[in-house]
Amino acid sequence: MRRLRAWKQIWLGRFFSCVSLKFTMANTILVGAQWGDEGKGKIIDVLTERADIVVRTQGGNNAGHTVLIGKQKYVLHLVPSGILRRGKKCVIGNGVVIDPPALVEEIEGLKRLGVRVDGNLFISETAHIVLPYHRLLDEQREARKGKNKIGTTKRGIGPAYADKAARTGLRMIDLVDAGRFAELLRDRIRENNEVLKAFGAKALSFAKVHAIYREAGDKLRRFVTNTVVMLNEAVRRGKDILFEGAQGTFLDIDHGTYPFVTSSNTTAGGACTGSGVPPNRMHKVIGVMKAYTTRVGEGPFPTESVEIGDMLHALGREFGATTGRPRRCGWFDSVVTRQAVMINGIDELAVTNLDGLDTLERIKVCVGYRHGSKLYAHVPNDGRVLKECQPVYEEFQGWQCPTNKARSWQDLPVRARRYLEAIAELSGSRLSIVSVGPDREETIFL
Ligand code: GDP
Ligand code: IMO
Ligand code: MG
Repeated sequence: MRRLRAWKQIWLGRFFSCVSLKFTMANTILVGAQWGDEGKGKIIDVLTERADIVVRTQGGNNAGHTVLIGKQKYVLHLVPSGILRRGKKCVIGNGVVIDPPALVEEIEGLKRLGVRVDGNLFISETAHIVLPYHRLLDEQREARKGKNKIGTTKRGIGPAYADKAARTGLRMIDLVDAGRFAELLRDRIRENNEVLKAFGAKALSFAKVHAIYREAGDKLRRFVTNTVVMLNEAVRRGKDILFEGAQGTFLDIDHGTYPFVTSSNTTAGGACTGSGVPPNRMHKVIGVMKAYTTRVGEGPFPTESVEIGDMLHALGREFGATTGRPRRCGWFDSVVTRQAVMINGIDELAVTNLDGLDTLERIKVCVGYRHGSKLYAHVPNDGRVLKECQPVYEEFQGWQCPTNKARSWQDLPVRARRYLEAIAELSGSRLSIVSVGPDREETIFL
């Protein structure tokens, strides 16, 4: 009886702590509203100041999140961008696929730059790992597709998620258990060597792979924990958690321009499944979008424009943070961002790279698509139709002056304000942040 009362007290305590914290907690999901590289890293870094914990919940080292602090540039692939703020806890959640040697390299690179990782980084026991056969299969499949290739980052992301779904994946919990890892890896290499042989590729040596991964496992062991319990405990204590999305809405495996997508749920729901924090503990969704549009890799891109691409590349902008490939560039597409607002439930918008448009005399915004006699206000699911869609544009006058010194809404030229108001309204959400340069300071809060 006494024990029952004690339990009751604990649970009632928990219940009341949740009720009383309801109005103070702000667990925020941040997603890309376009095709990735929207400037999520920069916005995460800015918002981390107010967060206790930053969590990556999907994707792998296909992501490249750039943060500029003063003169120092950091590019993060697996470690949450929050690591750059002293004392913030960072979690790589269960929904991420981790390439262990690549993660070790990233951690060591951060340490060389004076970033404190130990004590601040936590890795989920149940996150799946990327193995060399995933990378090789990614390469082989792309090569076989020829001109129909996806243009992947060749980081093995698709094959790693395929193994997860096929229930043949290896997880961090396996990697850090020496005996179990050797046994599972031997079996997986044997099977995957058969597949590699069928592709005409070289077979992998178990001994070599094992040695590299064992070493990485030994270095990562101290970070590996039950992050689901840890995060839910943090939720209970009213900590503010920021969920750092990777990629963008139209690279989502379900909602993107399939098959030219990545292999995870990049949309807001992925933050729940990829962390174990339930939907009713989330409070806000922020969508990050560029003031124009970019895309790396193949696939339909209705507003693609050589003119804007040449202009941005000549400025040394829009080269991929992971692969260095020049990004395809185009005008702002509000059909895409409106759909992103719908799918993710975006409450607030952060617009980045406004300064990229500073020199233009006229700026186009796509407000719908035309396909033959049909008008589309949403992105058609048929990829062949989307490829043939012609954008319907509205034109805005450019402001033709630098915006990177603006620190408040009033500092912005009137034409830039009109443009921002228009793209937020067309997207159907509230503008809350404008970024006018890559640095932390180059940010306007509305
Ligand atoms: P992410 O993958 O969404 O984090 O974006 P990336 O880091 O791959 O690409 C965004 C690029 O834009 C990076 O080079 C950032 O440093 C840069 N960036 C972000 N916001 C701004 C901005 O407002 N102005 C300028 N000039 N660059 C920005
Ligand atoms: P961040 O987080 C932009 C693209 C690739 C390719 C497709 C599939 O920096 O925004 P994958 O290697 O995932 O199988 O490639 O997805 N892609 C990205 N594009 N930003 C990213 O991440 C991306 N991650 C993957 O270019 O078209
Ligand atoms: Mg990127």
